[in-house]
Amino acid sequence: MSNAAQLSPAVDKPDHVADDLVYDFDFYADPGLIERGHARAVEVSKEAPPIFWTPRQGGHWIIRGHKAVFDVSRDTDKFSNGPISYEELQEILKSLPEDYPKPLIPTPITLDPPHHTMFRLPLQRAFSPKAMKKIEGDIRTLAADLIEKYKPQGGCEFMGSIAEPLPVTVFLKIFGLPIEKQDEYRALVKEHLANTDFEPSAVQERLRKVAAVMHDTIMERKDNPQDDVISLLWSAEFDGQPATIHDLENYCVMIFVAGLDTVMNGMGIGANHLATHPELQAELRANPDKVPAATEEILRRYTFTLPPRFVKEDMEFQGVTMKKGEKAVLLLPTADLDPNEFDSPEEFNLARESVHIAFGAGPHRCLGSHLARIELNILYEEMLARLPEFRLNPDHPVQYHGGPVWGPEELHLLW
Ligand code: HEM
Repeated sequence: MSNAAQLSPAVDKPDHVADDLVYDFDFYADPGLIERGHARAVEVSKEAPPIFWTPRQGGHWIIRGHKAVFDVSRDTDKFSNGPISYEELQEILKSLPEDYPKPLIPTPITLDPPHHTMFRLPLQRAFSPKAMKKIEGDIRTLAADLIEKYKPQGGCEFMGSIAEPLPVTVFLKIFGLPIEKQDEYRALVKEHLANTDFEPSAVQERLRKVAAVMHDTIMERKDNPQDDVISLLWSAEFDGQPATIHDLENYCVMIFVAGLDTVMNGMGIGANHLATHPELQAELRANPDKVPAATEEILRRYTFTLPPRFVKEDMEFQGVTMKKGEKAVLLLPTADLDPNEFDSPEEFNLARESVHIAFGAGPHRCLGSHLARIELNILYEEMLARLPEFRLNPDHPVQYHGGPVWGPEELHLLW
């Protein structure tokens, strides 16, 4: 993560974009977002059209309204998850010399149906509620140990001390990766999050480092399967062909990208809300059975991921003219603040019945949502049970980072 993200230059609007669809919002570096986090999302949800075009980050669509986000997420005929098709990708892979390292493709998130369906299936088993339930006890022990480690200090910088090591250690556990590699992984996570260079070659270089650290364990599990996700993925078949090392690496970099940054920022956002709402802490301490409802309402009120889509053909979509190849960012944070879907959306309400889309919608809906919910619930339960009332350290005002996953840069807590 980095505050270094600079407001990108505004580019000219293409002719097919109507003037009244332009709204200036840089989802990486909007100054209001950096200073005020979701308070800026509330403003955008009130000011911007349900589908708008921003001149920032090279110029692209932003899907802001709940209905529009829901429809785009499900319409895989009109919107693709990757900038190039599966067929084009296969052509590129075939054209590469035999000894050339294959580009890593986060799988299945960058694929569209029908290929997406085939590659999602093995992960669905690996991350099922039943499989995740089995590791709940381990996650609780990890969370409790981390909190107890910092408790005597009377406070900590929460992101680096707890929100980052907890999901990284859970990730190592699920993947059956050696726990001794924890420091190496944490360094990779930090490097990955601090980097704002999204040139394909720079992204490949970072992903390759992730795959390299996992390589030995991946190969070892091929011949000696154990009770972990890597062994389970080796047993998958695609179009009747056994999984290859390239398939395994693609899955592993996907989970690394999707499962660490998200949980870490979700934890930071949740701890921030609790730290600034002592009355909610008191209510949850008195009624721990309300924690899952609080987790859901935190996820809705501060939804924080922005998945991309790519327009597949020139078209009219919900009255808006779009051109093939244009990018459309799903602004899930504002979708979950849409008054057409949620009564008084700014209000924090534990009794809400409408379902949020913090985990997305349609075929790509988050595969790790069961795990994420377990991690978040356990963290809040253990913090509330083990720490006295906690609050923000007034000497360190919270600053946020934008990008595809929003969250606090640092979060200094006192208790
Ligand atoms: C609070 C934490 C999390 C949030 C808010 C979150 C959010 C999301 C969202 C919005 C999507 C849909 C992306 C799209 O439509 O293109 C997604 C997909 C995905 N997530 Fe999560 N995620 C979280 C945690 C996790 C974890 C812990 C894992 C794995 C261990 C994970 C693995 C995945 C995978 C594999 C996909 C791609 C699914 C597909 O393409 O079919 N996520 N996530």
